[in-house]
Amino acid sequence: MLCECTAFLEMETALNDWQTIDFFTDESLVEDPYPYFDDLRSACPVLPLPHLGVVAVTGYDEVNFVYRDTEAFSSCNSVVGPYATFPVPLEGDDVSEIVARYRDQLPMHEHMVTMDPPDHTRERGLLMRLLTPKRLKGTEEFMSRLADQQLDEFVADGHCEFIGSYAQPFAMLVVASVLGVPEEDHQRFVEGFGLSKAPGGVGAGEAGNPAANPLAWLDEWFTDYIEDRRRQPRDDVLTELALATYPDGSTPEVTSVVRTSTFLFAAGQETTARLLAAALKHLAEHPGLQEELRANRDLIPGFLEEVLRVESPVKTDFRLTRRSTSIAGVDIAAGTPVMLLNGAANRDPRRFECPNDFQLARPNAQAHIAFGRGAHSCPGGPLARAESRVSLERILDRTRNIRLSEEHHGPPDARRFNYEPTWILRGLTKLYLEFEPAEAGK
Ligand code: HEM
Repeated sequence: MLCECTAFLEMETALNDWQTIDFFTDESLVEDPYPYFDDLRSACPVLPLPHLGVVAVTGYDEVNFVYRDTEAFSSCNSVVGPYATFPVPLEGDDVSEIVARYRDQLPMHEHMVTMDPPDHTRERGLLMRLLTPKRLKGTEEFMSRLADQQLDEFVADGHCEFIGSYAQPFAMLVVASVLGVPEEDHQRFVEGFGLSKAPGGVGAGEAGNPAANPLAWLDEWFTDYIEDRRRQPRDDVLTELALATYPDGSTPEVTSVVRTSTFLFAAGQETTARLLAAALKHLAEHPGLQEELRANRDLIPGFLEEVLRVESPVKTDFRLTRRSTSIAGVDIAAGTPVMLLNGAANRDPRRFECPNDFQLARPNAQAHIAFGRGAHSCPGGPLARAESRVSLERILDRTRNIRLSEEHHGPPDARRFNYEPTWILRGLTKLYLEFEPAEAGK
């Protein structure tokens, strides 16, 4: 069945932009994809695109619906989307068997984000034993200390490139801390990731060697940690990690624990760094808001929810249709890659009033789906929220009058920003800020 809006569009003679734009290659969408998302949604919230056989889902309810149906939709292509290729054609009304047979040939197949139940349930069970509210609480004190140490490096200068100097090293070291990496090893992680020097560290030195797998060194280090703690348990988080069992009581292979651990860096670092950058950009553009948040810290969590809604760091997520089905009345053939556009769903006017406006007091901002929904919904959401809240508290305390650098971003009437040239993430590449250091006690 064709949805009514698709049928109507077919009658239109003039081509809309979305009919010619290739979302996967068009660089004009990098800076501001939102008008394109609005066009897609206005055409139909579930819309077959002219490229790569993809169906784009831009409606809030429709995206939710797909996220929650793990029977009809597989996560095997969640990261690589339409570029997941199988050695045989995906034909027929049910491609479940083909997916099952060949899924281990797809990129990222070893990570839980691409798994389906029951394998996914097992791996996620292991992770959820690690990301507990207690662990999160235990990390808050570290976050606050780390935030201050990072700020010590540049606050007195009155300027910084925020992503490299703060957001990336901060987000990375928080993941390291959650995993129990001893603080004396933090500097070598900073170097391994090629980030600027850790607070109090000696500066980039012998970074990990980016070979075919740029994070192979990380696997090696974690294998050492886990094997060491299995041989000689200690009273530390790495030992808990090493001895954690699957929900059925069985002990995972070392490689499974290592994979679960190292994936947290991939999933939790860039995403959180981009959220922090989006938050700081918005504050730098709205000085009044800085004052409001400084005067009332309780507004910070709501502010962050609205940033997540308006600038969702994960732009797209994918599913592969396992058996022919329909979404909101639109037929979807088995084998179709379905693109879930979180950033578009979060601006659906049927769910959020005046969705393109940033509203600090938006009553339902928290209903956003920046962290996905259903079986794969982000287990790091509470951590990302805590990281961002603690960071903003410390940054607002330690600075005054945060503003964009005109040298790098141009004057107010002609700002320039560069965004990551990817269809997966939404985020600035650099954010140059200026500010005054806060005087002690003020
Ligand atoms: C602002 C920051 C973040 C955003 C926007 C974000 C977004 C998401 C989204 C949309 C998913 C769902 C993927 C899917 O359904 O296919 C996801 C999954 C995941 N996220 Fe996050 N994430 C963030 C931070 C983090 C952090 C800090 C961690 C952990 C340290 C983390 C760990 C994970 C993991 C392990 C998964 C896979 C879960 C599964 O497959 O069951 N994320 N994230």
